[in-house]
Formats: sequence, structure tokens, C-alpha cells
Amino acid sequence: MNERIPHDKTLDNSVNLLEEGYLFIKNRTERYQSDLFIARVLGKKVICMSGKEAAKMFYDTEKFQRNGAVPKRIQKSLFGENAIQTLDGPEHIDRKRLFMSLMAASNKQKSVAELVTDEWTKAAKKWAKEEEIVLFDEAKDVLCRAACKWAGVPLEESEVSERANDFSDMVDAFGAVGPRHRKGRRARKRAEAWITEVIEDVRSGKRQAKEGSPLYEMAQYKDEDGNELSAQMAAIELINVVRPIVAIAIYITFEAVALAQHRPCREELQSGDPKYLEMFVQEVRRYYPFTPLLGAQVKTGFIWNDVKFKQGMLVFLDVYGTNHDPNLWDNPEQFRPHRFDTRKESLYDFIPQGGGDPKKGHRCPGEGITIEVMKASADFLANKITYDIPEQDMSYSLAKMPTLPKSGFIMQNPQPLD
Ligand code: HEM
Repeated sequence: MNERIPHDKTLDNSVNLLEEGYLFIKNRTERYQSDLFIARVLGKKVICMSGKEAAKMFYDTEKFQRNGAVPKRIQKSLFGENAIQTLDGPEHIDRKRLFMSLMAASNKQKSVAELVTDEWTKAAKKWAKEEEIVLFDEAKDVLCRAACKWAGVPLEESEVSERANDFSDMVDAFGAVGPRHRKGRRARKRAEAWITEVIEDVRSGKRQAKEGSPLYEMAQYKDEDGNELSAQMAAIELINVVRPIVAIAIYITFEAVALAQHRPCREELQSGDPKYLEMFVQEVRRYYPFTPLLGAQVKTGFIWNDVKFKQGMLVFLDVYGTNHDPNLWDNPEQFRPHRFDTRKESLYDFIPQGGGDPKKGHRCPGEGITIEVMKASADFLANKITYDIPEQDMSYSLAKMPTLPKSGFIMQNPQPLD
């Protein structure tokens, strides 16, 4: 039956995946004129798929599971071992309820954005004395301060950059082999040791945590059977809240690049229209690369579009390719925020942070926070400071996962406007 779908002829595609990065699946769906093909990664057959219908199927929890799909090397660097990303069924729904309770309400999302705005304002005052700053480095520190404050995690000013770099290195490790990957593992070890101690201090009463704060809720959470998480597991899940806020620095750097390269966007942002601000942020999340693909394992065998999905088989969903799919997006390679003017909401065609219903599946629970923080940051860049943009390399490699503009976005003579 699976003879009818294209099989990539290469003996093993692992090297192609590392070399082609974000374009690995897209290159082949285009070559084979098919939303589905079979490849071989690390010696195993993998069904690779792209597009809205594929995304809809990928999020059917009767068909797919995550346990067994997340390689240990990613758990030991990016996610933490046995964290929410690897759970299925009632255990996942229960843990997800905790995450959603911390971040689904719009007032909670806005409060994170307000903390970020405060930190940008303070940072801009400091920059007034600097000739030059690198936005990505500054954004990591700003977001780390705001994320820890919001989460209730104690953070001394003297440790901000070190902690911010650790959170960022865990993210940077995910598509890497060799030194970048090892750096991410070491960063995780340090962060887990730090946060585990904080959780233990809250549990023993040595440290007070505010009810409703992520620190308090992770420390107190009890699963369906009434068991609390081990201190290390609670720390891993708390890191799963703080680390991705710091990772928004990548999107903020892309926002600055978009503003530098598309002058009309800057002018429209300066008009102060909140609808345009939102459209700009959505287009940054669609156009620029962040998550390349997602993996899951077939839970029980089934047939879809004449293709046999055998139990235990690995499946990749093309996140980057779906956000650039010409069947879903008009001129997908153009950066055009106004495309969101008339776009109908769908849970499966715009998937920078996953698809489906976040309460029922693995879609990112932090999408609202991401959007609010990006809105606050785009407004800051367009309306709250002035700066010169020197000659620099703003290009980014689609082979590196995750990627970033090469210069990190250098700003000269940054001055706050007030
Ligand atoms: C899951 C992307 C920000 C917390 C995910 C997933 C993606 C993603 C692709 C996986 C979806 C899936 O497996 O189906 C991003 C990107 C972000 C971001 C690109 C921007 C920097 C955030 C923020 C938070 C967060 C700000 C929290 C404050 C999580 C958690 C999960 C997750 C806890 C696991 C959910 C689960 O397994 O059920 N994110 N995310 N993320 N994200 Fe985000």
C-alpha cells in the first residue's frame, strides 16, 4: 500500500536533515509534489507530512502519542526528562490544565507583557550611555528578568545574564550536535539544580511563594492520584514556563529585522493601530523560522489517504513548511502583515507554536503570552526608542535549528523617546 507514496531514495536522511534544516521536508514535498513521503532518519522509517490536513490528523490523540517520540538527547537539553512534552492521555490533560491555568487568561498574558515593557524602559535608559548594543543579548536579559519576576523565581541582578544564557542555550541545543548540544545539557543541569532548590525551599517553608504564581502552583501541584511532583520534576516544569519566555528573544530579533527591512511596517506601527500591531506580530511568527518540525509516534495502526501508518512508526509534521505552504498562503515568501486582515481563524494552517486545541493536545499553552510580549516589544522598537542601524549581516541560515539573524541585530546610539 505504501508503495504509492514517494520514498526518499537516500539510505539514511539524518545528514540531509542536519544540512537542510527547516527546508528538509519542504524540499521533498515540492520535489515529489506530495504532502507526504517516507524518509529514513537514524535508521528508522519516518513518515514526513505537511499542510493543514496533515496537521489536523497529527493532533488526533487517538492516532498519535508523544511518549517514545521525543529523543532523549532533546529531553536532556531542551525539555527536561519525562516532562509534559512526553506525556499522553489523562496524565497529559491533567498536567496541561495546570499550565493553562497559569497562562490562558488574557489578564495573565498582559501582566507578563507589562513586566517586559517595564524592563525595556529600564534597559533603554541604560543604553542611552552606550554607543552600540546587540538586541538579541539585551532581549534575553530583559525577558529573563520579567519571566522570573512573573513566575515568582528569585533572581539576583548579578546572575541575570548567566541564567538568561543558560535558558537560551537549552533552546539552541535542540537541532545541534557536538559542542552546542553539550552546552545545552550543561545549562539544563545548572538550571535544574537551581530551581529544584527553590522548589524545596518553598515546600519546607524556607521561602514564601505567592499563591497563583507559577512557582507556588508547580510546588503545590498534585496529580490525579493526589501525588505531588518530585522536586526535580516540579523544577523541570517550572523551567518549561520560564525558558520559553526567554526564547521569545529570537522572535523579537526577527521583529527588529522586519522593521529594518520593511519601512512601511515601521510607519504603520507608528500610527498606533492595535489591529496592525497584532497582524505584524502574527506575520513575524508565520514568516520567520523558529520550530522546524514536530514528531509523534503512531499509537494504533490506521490508514489515511491510502497510506498505512503502522503502530510505533515515527511521524514528522512540517511546521515551517505549513506556514509557508502556497496552498494555504498567498505568496508565502513575502513578508506581508496585511494578509491577516481577512484571514479566517483555523487551528491547523497557522502553526508556529503547534496546532489544535491546547487544552486537549500538545499545542503551546504560551501562545497568548508570546503574542502579548511580541506586541509590547514591537511597540517598544517602533515607538519608544530611536537608534541607528549600522552595516551588519542580518541574514539567517535555514540550516541552523533554531536560527537567528547572524548579527543578533546591532543598534547604534540607542536613545529612549519620552
Ligand atoms: C509547546 C513553540 C513560547 C510553553 C510548544 C510547541 C511548540 C512551541 C512548537 C509544541 C507543540 C506540540 O508539541 O504539538 C513555541 C514558540 C514560542 C513558545 C516558538 C516562542 C518563543 C512559549 C511560552 C511558554 C511556552 C512563552 C510559556 C510561558 C510551552 C509548553 C509546551 C509548549 C509548556 C508543552 C505543551 C504540551 O506538551 O502540552 N511550544 N513556544 N511556550 N510550549 Fe511553547
